[in-house]
Amino acid sequence: MSAPLPPNSTIGILGGGQLGRMTALAAAALGYRCHIYAPEADSPGMQVSAAATVAAYDDAEALKRFAASVDVVTFEFENVPAACLDILAPLVPCRPGVQALRICQDRLLEKKFLAEAGVPVAPWRAVTSEAELEAAVAEIGLPAVLKTTRMGYDGRGQAVLRKPEDLAAAWARLDPKPLILEAFVPFAAEISAVAARAVDGSVAVYDAVENRHTHHILDYSFAPARLPQAAALAAKAGVASVAEKLDLVGVLAVEFFLLADGTLLGNEIAPRPHNSGHWTMDACAFSQFAQHARAVAGLPLGTPERHHDAVMKNLVGPEGMKRWPSVMEHPDVALHLYGKASAREGRKMGHVNRVLPLGSLATMSDEEICRGI
Ligand SMILES: Nc1ncnc2c1ncn2[C@@H]1O[C@H](COP(=O)(O)OP(=O)(O)O)[C@@H](O)[C@H]1O
Ligand SMILES: [Mg+2]
Repeated sequence: MSAPLPPNSTIGILGGGQLGRMTALAAAALGYRCHIYAPEADSPGMQVSAAATVAAYDDAEALKRFAASVDVVTFEFENVPAACLDILAPLVPCRPGVQALRICQDRLLEKKFLAEAGVPVAPWRAVTSEAELEAAVAEIGLPAVLKTTRMGYDGRGQAVLRKPEDLAAAWARLDPKPLILEAFVPFAAEISAVAARAVDGSVAVYDAVENRHTHHILDYSFAPARLPQAAALAAKAGVASVAEKLDLVGVLAVEFFLLADGTLLGNEIAPRPHNSGHWTMDACAFSQFAQHARAVAGLPLGTPERHHDAVMKNLVGPEGMKRWPSVMEHPDVALHLYGKASAREGRKMGHVNRVLPLGSLATMSDEEICRGI
């Protein structure tokens, strides 16, 4: 199927979180219906969608019924079991496809893939036993970061190794195995870039942004990143190359480390809309969610051009929710809440985008940019 989906067609979304919710809202604006498939009832995505299936990801019968009720399938988080897409793919187009999902849910495949796509990465070793961990540390040195290869997010499933005594406890704690050992990157900044790729292979890349984390959770994204021109172009070229090499249809993000000398190293690929792309909702004519819906539906992409500078702040847990409604007092700040009933510690409840005139980020201090949000 390569013709665009006609209006009133149904986009199936695996996963019920905020990324699915914002994709569903963007899809609705294009005249599509969304059907969310997720194990949790009343998920953020279901609240704004035309249909929902509450079922486990390994429920083959429910997946087949889901496939029969939708015109195309996408996913909103990369820990959907690949076996799920294996069941769906013969029945309905899946965008992105299972190959992209498999690579991005395994840090070992992902690191190899980044290098093959021309994005350099820090030294790493696969680690399947404690003896291999010791050998890998001997080669890579300390400090280093030990991570699960699967199921990690928001810094979960990783440990920083600083001294030889740290190895045994980290090996015992991190699960599931195997693990990956990465050289610790003394980065000057964390950067990411989001690209959309359409069925016809055309690619739209947003400006790279700078990300600041607090307790391993994304806190702020500054759009655009204040970067040397060469690094900004390398980030955009890198994400475009990854999208092409994955033969992706949809949106993806690549996270990078920026070193003090301007070098960029790839860290992770997310084959879906990304938290560091939320600023596009208010600073671009076509948000990452609009692009994702367009790509998945087989429509041409919109321009990724930025009409404002922006800073995005996540509202995380009870602390984040306390900022509401004071953030509402600023006429340049747009609120996006995800409809989650309980504000548990560390839970992403929503985000705000402050929009600023084009070019102003380069001339303002971080304090001025973020005042009041
Ligand atoms: N090799 C590394 N060197 C230095 N810091 C790292 C390294 N790997 C991860 N980090 C830090 O931990 C954060 C989370 O790691 P990441 O690999 O992006 O996992 P996830 O986002 O899936 O939790 C990164 O954003 C970065 O701040
Ligand atoms: Mg990450």
